[in-house]
Amino acid sequence: MKDTYILGIESSCDETSCSIVKNGCEEIATIISSQIDIHKDYGGVVPEIASRNHVKNVTFVIEECLEKAKMSMDEIDAIAITYGPGLIGSLLVGVEAAKTLSFIYDKPLIPVHHIAGHIYANSLVKEMKFPLLALVVSGGHTELIKMDKHYSFNKLGGTLDDAIGECYDKVARVINLEYPGGPKVDKLAHIGKCSYKLPVPLKDDSYNFSFSGLKSAVINLVHNEEQRGNPIIKEDLAASFQKVAISEIINKTKKALEEGNIKNLIVAGGVAANQGLREEVEKMCSELNVEYTFPPMKYCTDNAAMIAAAGYFAMLDNRSADLSLNSKSTDKLQ
Ligand code: KG4
Ligand code: ZN
Repeated sequence: MKDTYILGIESSCDETSCSIVKNGCEEIATIISSQIDIHKDYGGVVPEIASRNHVKNVTFVIEECLEKAKMSMDEIDAIAITYGPGLIGSLLVGVEAAKTLSFIYDKPLIPVHHIAGHIYANSLVKEMKFPLLALVVSGGHTELIKMDKHYSFNKLGGTLDDAIGECYDKVARVINLEYPGGPKVDKLAHIGKCSYKLPVPLKDDSYNFSFSGLKSAVINLVHNEEQRGNPIIKEDLAASFQKVAISEIINKTKKALEEGNIKNLIVAGGVAANQGLREEVEKMCSELNVEYTFPPMKYCTDNAAMIAAAGYFAMLDNRSADLSLNSKSTDKLQ
């Protein structure tokens, strides 16, 4: 069978990325231009600055990716693009670039939901086996999704308020760690002790999550200690927060695996890089005899390889779009 090469573009937040992936599973070349250094002075992503930088970078990133792959547009079979969810101004830049390539080179245009992209980062590691449970943990999402086959998404539950990555970043900010704080909290957690008492998030029977109470408890604790003149032991607070947050994710994931008798788990999104989560998933899966995959570290946070991989399976599912495709800041994964 002829090989299929998908060129993917991702620009939903503060990374401008282009990648070429073969048959939805083999990365040929990826370029990621990150804006972290620009946004960290503001403590988070500034949407207007993000879109301006996407405009500046997008053509260079696409050209560099083709160069790295030693390929021309003639060898590309389709263009996959993140159409949403994300920052609307940022998304628009990628979508317009993808539409332009699709029009000029007469290639199919494949819209990819950002979360489908995170899920399919795992296809770059090993073949996905169904039925599977996808645990999506990112800056914008915390979801449990059941898949019975490729490109079929059944959401079992999700966060009722803050996403887990967002919560990590806010906890980091209150203890003065630089944006993005998630990885820094993770590092501190490994050297700290769980000496602070924090509330357990959501004790219910659903597959939903809630992290805003935990986040507020951390913020209040820091403010109260500051008022009393007590120093905060950052590594202990990070360890205490991480223990509660990760336990919550593990408990709900375990419930979904057991109740659905699902034997394959994939973890997706920026927080999949979290060492504490990796350790606990490993423990849980060996106890339940479940096979699991994590994306490699470089594909946990936003990148276009995951979009190109998802784009391949979206194309097999006949999900192409015409040039009227528009970006969407929010959209259901379906
Ligand atoms: O998937 P992603 O790049 O963006 C969204 O689609 O939302 O995820 C970024 C999020 C940020 O909140 C970042 O702090 C978090 O992932 N993150 C981590 C770690 N690495 C990245 N959170 C906890 N531990 C980590 N090691
Ligand atoms: Zn993402």
